Amino acid sequence: MTRGRIGARALRDQLGDWRGDAPAYEALSDRVKLLLLDGRISADIRMPAERELATALGLSRTTVAAAYRRLREAGYATSLQGSGTTTALPRTRVERPIAGDGLIDFVHASLPATKLLAEVMNDDLLDDFRCQFSTIGYDGVGQPELRQAIADWYTSRGLPTDPGEILVTTGSQSAIHMAARALVARGDRVWAEGPSYPNAFDALRDAGARIVTTPVTVDDGWDMDALESTFQRTAPTVAYTMPDFHNPTGRSMSADDRRRFLEAADAACTTVNVDEATAELDIDRAETHPPLGALAVGGGPEILHISSASKPIWGGLRIGWIRATPAMLRRIAAVRGSSDLAVPVFEQLVVTRLLPRVDEIAEERREQLRAGRDAAREAIAELLPDWTFPAHLDGGLAAWVNLGAPLSTQLVLAAHARGLLIASGPRFGVDGAFERNLRIPITVPPEYLRHGLELMAELWPSAHRIASADSDYAGTVA
Ligand SMILES: Cc1ncc(COP(=O)(O)O)c(C=O)c1O
Repeated sequence: MTRGRIGARALRDQLGDWRGDAPAYEALSDRVKLLLLDGRISADIRMPAERELATALGLSRTTVAAAYRRLREAGYATSLQGSGTTTALPRTRVERPIAGDGLIDFVHASLPATKLLAEVMNDDLLDDFRCQFSTIGYDGVGQPELRQAIADWYTSRGLPTDPGEILVTTGSQSAIHMAARALVARGDRVWAEGPSYPNAFDALRDAGARIVTTPVTVDDGWDMDALESTFQRTAPTVAYTMPDFHNPTGRSMSADDRRRFLEAADAACTTVNVDEATAELDIDRAETHPPLGALAVGGGPEILHISSASKPIWGGLRIGWIRATPAMLRRIAAVRGSSDLAVPVFEQLVVTRLLPRVDEIAEERREQLRAGRDAAREAIAELLPDWTFPAHLDGGLAAWVNLGAPLSTQLVLAAHARGLLIASGPRFGVDGAFERNLRIPITVPPEYLRHGLELMAELWPSAHRIASADSDYAGTVA
């Protein structure tokens, strides 16, 4: 029994712009493999009939049949007489890309816990926790002490905040998801950066958004002219942005661009969901910036500030938050129950103790990220001279590397087969763009970074060879 099916049009939408230099049957099967590896389509679901998919994609049936055969041969599909083709994951693969069993994890750009976590795990914390045993132990708004600590954190950064403007969430991912569900109606246009944080794209799509993007590049940052004309033309309901430090490019928006951004959003009546989960990850940036809303005090668009303890303190605590008006928070709280009931009290007690020390923690992070950035830059210059590491990377989680050739998918699939788990460039776009890019997390300890990049250097020539050998083959499978 299969668990469900995916129709030809739904699969076409998921595939995005999958065509590249490789022959169509290969590019198609590679993109389906990636969707499976990224969890964007599940294993054990019925694929569309060959004829239906061929019509939806404007291909010959022979090409789709060849793509399905290639998926079967690699273990990503099975077919039984009379019951069509069903997606699968090869037995050798782990279901989720979690490090362990000798796997190298370049998928998660996250740091281990701050050293200060051990310090606060003391009797005082346990005493406070014991006092909670007579309560239900979780709450859907956030503990008053934590909301106060978060409000103080914003105030100290130049954005005066009252605890009533804070809603505590299960990490910022849940905040992004809930805010999208509260604000976006099916079919609404939502603006986001291209590339952007993939789980935000997924959350926005879940809410029914039609996503429009404008570019952010490693060299030039935000294309403000394109952004302004897109806001003017499409009047997006919501804009989802990461001004510090943009994931995956690591860019930080200039003060002037922030002003232009807010003016464009205001003129288009667009609500801004600003994701500042990575804002504390400054390595050696020349200029620091207050939270985005500090520029709009007394006017401007409605802004929801989304942030989290995950990047500075520890992702394992799963504490995030939204700063917004109490009326907006009530709207968000109203959609909460169906997906994310509440946040556990224990983790909130921990974050309440650590948040006031976040500047001290930022120092620790600075050293870790500097070591990761420098190790990745050196290893790439030495081992992968075709690749371009960003000339300036002064903060954030990752380096958005240019491979110099549209081979991201090929390389990622080869790396997966050798136990190195990494997200391909197209995962960071809405339409399959970014085949020339790869996100290298600088959060990984230098020795693992080196090890992973050595493996990629070993695989890189074969990614090239596969692509060119297959181009010779192009035309034989039409
Ligand atoms: C930009 C950005 N926003 C949000 C998140 C979600 O993190 P969390 O739910 O742990 O706060 C991440 C995680 O990598 C991220 O990179």
